Amino acid sequence: MPTLWKITLEILRQRQNQPPHVELFELEVDPDENVLDCIERVWAFHDRSLTFRHACHHSTCGACGMRVNGVEKLTCITPVREVTHPNGVLRVEPLRNFPVLSDLVVDVSGFFQRMEQTQLSSIAPLSQAKLPFEPNPPTIWQGQRLIDCIECGLCVSACPAANTSTSYFGPAVLAAAQHVYRQTNNPTVMQLVNCADGLWRCHSAYECSAVCPSNVDPAWRIMDMRRATVAHSLRNIFKRPNQKVAP
Ligand code: SF4
Ligand code: FES
Repeated sequence: MPTLWKITLEILRQRQNQPPHVELFELEVDPDENVLDCIERVWAFHDRSLTFRHACHHSTCGACGMRVNGVEKLTCITPVREVTHPNGVLRVEPLRNFPVLSDLVVDVSGFFQRMEQTQLSSIAPLSQAKLPFEPNPPTIWQGQRLIDCIECGLCVSACPAANTSTSYFGPAVLAAAQHVYRQTNNPTVMQLVNCADGLWRCHSAYECSAVCPSNVDPAWRIMDMRRATVAHSLRNIFKRPNQKVAP
């Protein structure tokens, strides 16, 4: 039988267009439980009006992202033991840099729409999947993840540049654009992100890569896309014979 910890779960709650407030819940938990388990317990035994997002419970769907004691985490794989303050406080807040819909639920629709603009393929023909059987019927389609991005939005929440501008594309979108561009050389993808709200607003803080729960490394991808964009511009300058080149 594990030794239980007494923790104070502080939840930042908010209804649309109302000021946020903190509610406290005293819990006894196994420290190896995950933060999402504690939130579900509050919902099950203390307050059914608490709203939060979750689905897979194994770091695949990206739905359970929140700020836990000030750091962006997938709460379904974050053990209480690792994040609880020594004074027993575990504070949970919605992700930053997204509109709050209710309590711990943020509106990610704009984020998903931007991801689609990068032409990142989220589906692929089943024929491209390595399957141990013949698909029947052969025309069905299957979802496929690319560059390991689970579209959780943690990087957007942690990004200081996204915190200063709502029009900034954000790390995940720029990382997706880099992936697509390196795969396809599609100039429209480069044009999409070669702007003040795209590649050039990033401050190279690398906070996005620090919190990313997957293998995306968005900061590195943004730098790589900048290199590709500069190289493309220089090639265009030098291949035009009448182009004036700055000394
Ligand atoms: S880049 Fe990483 S942190 Fe950002 S949405 Fe994708 S998986 Fe999440
Ligand atoms: S519930 Fe799916 S990633 Fe956490």
